[in-house]
Amino acid sequence: MKVILVTGASSGIGLQVANYLAQKGHRVYGISRTKIHEKNVKGIQADVTHYEQLKQAYQDIYDVEGRIDVVINNAGFGISGAIEDTSLKDAHELMNVNFMGVFHSTKAALPFMRESGGGKIINMSSVASRLSIPFQAFYSSSKAAINAFSEALATEVSPFHIQVCSVMPGDIKTGFTKNRRKNEVDSPCYKKRVDKSVGVMEDDERNGMDPEVAAKVIYKLVQQRRMPIYKTIGFKYKVFVLLHKLLPARFAHAVVGAIYGFKKD
Ligand SMILES: NC(=O)c1ccc[n+]([C@@H]2O[C@H](COP(=O)([O-])OP(=O)(O)OC[C@H]3O[C@@H](n4cnc5c(N)ncnc54)[C@H](OP(=O)(O)O)[C@@H]3O)[C@@H](O)[C@H]2O)c1
Repeated sequence: MKVILVTGASSGIGLQVANYLAQKGHRVYGISRTKIHEKNVKGIQADVTHYEQLKQAYQDIYDVEGRIDVVINNAGFGISGAIEDTSLKDAHELMNVNFMGVFHSTKAALPFMRESGGGKIINMSSVASRLSIPFQAFYSSSKAAINAFSEALATEVSPFHIQVCSVMPGDIKTGFTKNRRKNEVDSPCYKKRVDKSVGVMEDDERNGMDPEVAAKVIYKLVQQRRMPIYKTIGFKYKVFVLLHKLLPARFAHAVVGAIYGFKKD
């Protein structure tokens, strides 16, 4: 039985992961702004953009449990629209939740994980970290930042027997689609392509994988002796990531352009 913290546990992937790990016998704490009331998951209300809230929450958990074994940094949301039309506020908020939130949670957890003699940090990235999606530049950038952060962190904390994995799911059916914040204004010079591109993305998400697929992958990561540094979720997306690695950047870019429809204008 491990003591596991999941951020963004009130919906979608985080809720499924928290319940799945709890059903498997782990002690799970679910952190989100909306407090959860699940039978087997202990809900904690905190905002990942507030480091002090997480620090206090993790201290409280450590005081009760005597250790923290696994932290799953999952909280996140999306914004969409042209870079030129993106408000400074939305861009800052996105980076603050998706990237700084991972930093805050990691910084708050590490002293306790070192005290516990080791553990695992699982950061929720996305396939969009590798295939940067047009009109979702800030989301893609926040996830690419998580990958870079995770790689550096893995080296820094390996002497303390703490492993780090950046998980890159493909499209998954969750509240993410409805929670995506769209630019307030789309300039006429972008509007048609924004609508087409975001429309393709929303369709893919609505027809995406069940969050249980992610829960099973994360359970396996928690259980296995040695985690990989990257884990892609979904066969199709593994092929995309591999092609992106193998193809020259110009071709990969053209493929992403074709998928999101903007060559057809
Ligand atoms: N769905 C996909 O296709 C997909 C694909 C790749 C990666 N991902 C990533 O998977 C993660 C989970 O997304 P999801 O699809 O499960 O979306 P979701 O259903 O919208 O869930 C997002 C979760 O993040 C929490 N959250 C948002 N802002 C927060 C904050 N400031 N502090 C604390 N918690 C916060 C939300 O809880 P509250 O609102 O209650 O705070 C909610 O529990 C995200 O990082 C997302 O980028 C999703």
